[in-house]
Formats: sequence, structure tokens, C-alpha cells
Amino acid sequence: MRPRLRIAWLALLLLASVALAARPRPHVLKRRNPTYAPLSDSSLDELVALTDLDATLDWTRPETTLAKLLVPRAVGSANLTRLQGMVEGHFRKLGWHVEKDTFDDSTPYGTKTFTNLVFTHDPSAPRRLVLSAHLDSKFFPTHPEDQFVGATDSAAPCAMLLDLATGLTPWLDRRKQRVEEGGGEEGREGQGESLQIIFFDGEEAFKDWTHSDSIYGARHLAHKWGSETDHSPQPVRATPRSPLRRISHLVLLDLLGAPNPLIRNFFPTTGWLFDEFLHAEERLGNAGHLWQGLEGEAYSARKGEVGAHERSFFVSRGGGGVSAYAGQIEDDHLPFLREGVPVVHLISVPFPKVWHTIKDNADALDLPTVKAWSLIVRLAVAEYLGLDPSAPIPNLNTPTEVKRDPRDLLSDEAG
Ligand SMILES: *[C@@H]1O[C@H](CO)[C@@H](O)[C@H](O)[C@H]1NC(C)=O
Ligand SMILES: [Zn+2]
Repeated sequence: MRPRLRIAWLALLLLASVALAARPRPHVLKRRNPTYAPLSDSSLDELVALTDLDATLDWTRPETTLAKLLVPRAVGSANLTRLQGMVEGHFRKLGWHVEKDTFDDSTPYGTKTFTNLVFTHDPSAPRRLVLSAHLDSKFFPTHPEDQFVGATDSAAPCAMLLDLATGLTPWLDRRKQRVEEGGGEEGREGQGESLQIIFFDGEEAFKDWTHSDSIYGARHLAHKWGSETDHSPQPVRATPRSPLRRISHLVLLDLLGAPNPLIRNFFPTTGWLFDEFLHAEERLGNAGHLWQGLEGEAYSARKGEVGAHERSFFVSRGGGGVSAYAGQIEDDHLPFLREGVPVVHLISVPFPKVWHTIKDNADALDLPTVKAWSLIVRLAVAEYLGLDPSAPIPNLNTPTEVKRDPRDLLSDEAG
């Protein structure tokens, strides 16, 4: 991705200093998102323990997923094909639905073949929360730049998504089973919403970033999903008719894994979901799950400190504002955003200093930061989808027209 312009630092500092808005109450979140259920305190430790993060993310161990991803993997390379196979195998083993979106497009280096990988936990659910990142690394024609591995761009985000799937699959399975045993939800036999994870191909430009030389995979998939119409009989009138309309939110991870990221809110209508990631960080931090030896007040004190390794990843949006960078960053979310899909863009801005240089390698990563990201995303997604195994399944067998009220997106900013 690339930034379109640079903004004065002053504006950033002003934004960073605005106070944190209170979290909306659960019923407000439920109106925005019918599957939402807060995670109980007793389930928080269980959630954190769902995977051994080091076993996936500690890149100093050659057998870990992140170590395997840290190789040059430009579009069309044998390395990328091999890693696409590894990713696909990971999801097949977990029992997810696999969709490979392969297509050709012309590039400054002639026609290339691209493959987006789309994994869905429950393809029969009419709506999907999408988590996404790009698997390809930027192509450089000359040595030594051709050894660019894009550790933050986006090897680490991809590893986080693989860990997300590993961790949440048992809870996703259990929720689906409980919904089905209860006769279904939202007037359907199955469940209303599921988790979908997309690995885009061809995010990077081959040469200089232009509209035709960039985000090949996302452009293709958004166009394809926007033009497909589903004619199958649908039990509920409000069931979306195209795969694109089935996306309740698209969350894009990019340029993550370096210490001290600055994550900003770019879109007023999804500010509440941005806040959910921020609240997930706060809760995990307070409980001592993010930083060794820091919890409670010690964590709270540190998370606001400029320059502290443990400071919050997020720039609070205060009274509901958007970052001055809003609309300035071109990335895989754009083709979806243009089609009206609500987006949360978790990207560090300013970009990591090593961005698009050979130094975006393992040395750019910080393991506690990568692990913290995995847990933050895991908690926010678990609550969004109401996965807590101890939570009751809502709306069993009560036919309701599930439709997000646009007013909900605009009001209730402070709950
Ligand atoms: C594939 O990865 C290896 C490291 O495992 C690297 O040395 C090689 O240059 C990569 N190949 C290409 C074509 O990028
Ligand atoms: Zn990049």
C-alpha cells in the first residue's frame, strides 16, 4: 500500500491526545451487530489459552508458521505457491470451506496469474465478518532487494490470521453446534454470521503504484462478488443477495508486527468497531495478558506513555472523529469500500520505518507486539461473533428481520 500524502505531525499529536470515549453498552453493540456477546471474565483466560502463540509466531524457531512466511514470495513465484499451499492445508485441517479465486491480469511484466484464498468457517451463514491480509510480498527485480520478505508487509499479519483460525475454530464449531441444536437463529436453521478469512494476492505494485498496478486480488474479488447474484431460496427477506453484501465488515490488517504501532480510525461509520479492538487491548492489558509483568494500574499507567514499548497501539478517536489520514491510504480495502462494504483498516500510520526496504525483515518485528496483536484480534472477533462457550445463544428460532439500522451507525458514538 502507499500513503497519498503526508500530514503535519501537529494534527497527529492533537488527535492522539483526545480522551477515550466510553464503550457502548452491550445492547447498543447488539443492535449494530446481532451476534455480539460480551466475553465473560471466566472465559477470558480460556480464550487466551486457546493457542500457544509462540508455536506459531516465534520466528526464531524454524518450524513456526511465521518463520516459514519470512521468505521472498512475490506474485507468481514458487515460494508464494508453496506458501499458498501451506495456508490452504492449515484451513483444510481445521475443516473450513476453501475457495480459491484464480485469475489472470496484465501487469507491467506481462500477464500474471493471481490467487486469492478465501476460507469460511460456515459457508451456510448468510453474513460474514471478514478478516484479511495480503500474502504476496513486493517484487524487486534486482539483488539484494529481491530478498525482500515483507515481515510487517504482511507476513506477520498473515501469521496472526492463521493463529486466529486455529484458536477460534473450536469455539466457532461449538457455537454452530449450539445454534443448530437450538433450532437455528434469526429465523434460519443455521447461524446468522460466520468468520471468513481472506488472503489477497497481488496487493503490491510491480513497479510504481497506480490504479492498474496495485491491489490486483482485492479488485478482482470485490468485482466478482459484487456481480454475482445468489438465487437460492432464502428463509429471511433481509438475507443479502450477493457475496459482497454478505460481508458485515471487512477488517484489513497490514504493516503490523513492529513495536509501537499507531492505529487510527479512518471511517466514521465503523468507529464503534475500531473501538472494539481498542477495548480488547485494554481488557487484555488490564488482565496482564499482553505484557509480561504489567497488569492493572501498572498497565494503565504505561499504556499512555509516549515512547513506552507497552503503550497502546491505538489512537483514540475521542469524540468520534476520524484520523487526518482518512482516505489517504490505498490498500486492499478500497475496492470493497467503494462498493459500500463497512471497513476497519488496522494499519500502522506512519508506516514502519523499514517499509518497502530490505530491512522489513525479522529484525523489524517485536514478538510481544505480534503476540499482543493476535490476542487483541482474537478477543474482538470472539465478542463480535458471540463465541463465548458459556454465553447463551440469542434469538433462537425467533424470526426477526436482521437489518442494521443506519441510524445506529451514526448515533450512540459514546454509547
Ligand atoms: C524463495 O525463498 C528462498 C528462501 O527460502 C529465497 O532464497 C529465494 O530467493 C526465494 N525465491 C524467489 C524466487 O523469490
Ligand atoms: Zn507493501
